[in-house]
Amino acid sequence: MAKFTVVDHPLIQHKLTIIRDKNTSTKVFREVTNEIAMLMAYEITRDLPLEEIEIETPLTKSTQKQISGKKMAIVPILRAGLGMVDGITSLVPSARVGHIGLYREHDTLNIVEYFAKLPLDISERQVFVVDPMLATGGSAISAITQLTQKYQVDISHITFVCLVAAPEGVKALQTAFPELDIFTAALDEKLDENGYILPGLGDAGDRIFGTK
Ligand code: PRP
Ligand code: URA
Repeated sequence: MAKFTVVDHPLIQHKLTIIRDKNTSTKVFREVTNEIAMLMAYEITRDLPLEEIEIETPLTKSTQKQISGKKMAIVPILRAGLGMVDGITSLVPSARVGHIGLYREHDTLNIVEYFAKLPLDISERQVFVVDPMLATGGSAISAITQLTQKYQVDISHITFVCLVAAPEGVKALQTAFPELDIFTAALDEKLDENGYILPGLGDAGDRIFGTK
């Protein structure tokens, strides 16, 4: 059964309020976005399998645990997904990072795909697709469709991680991929008539990179 999880730890809620505030500077927005991503990494890796290994402490031989199973890949959806990568890799430094470039056309919200560069063994990895915003769901669906169809990643090995989700986007993504695990830091009220999340935080890419 696929999971839908709102990671609503008080630290995350506090930091989300900071990045929602329109007066927050680009510098602080970027820093705090990565901090939230790091806190979420703690939760999204909770189910990683462990194996037992033999070690020697300074006092005795001992059987202890280490992470086993599939190696991880983080796949940010460009641009805004880049804002979450450092936070996650600070907890899992050995994860590979693939990139999928796409954007929503401003007026039509149609998805334009422009880039993909993924680890060669992506189909053998546990893949975390990251993007701060899940609005209509079009971008996430397009990225995950690429991963499953073009790169043969099994949907059961993909997790989608965002910071702010709209109910419309969650529904669309779950309909497209019923087996997909989704983690978000907040589930907001709705989309506005331009496809922006309310209350949201505005355009995540523009706020991370200081563009308009
Ligand atoms: C934003 C955001 C998501 C997408 C979400 O990207 O980072 O990728 O919109 O909207 P959706 O769920 O309706 O597809 P945008 O298209 O603005 O591109 P950018 O990251 O390059 O700014
Ligand atoms: N993309 C964003 O960056 N923000 C939204 O509110 C919706 C889509």
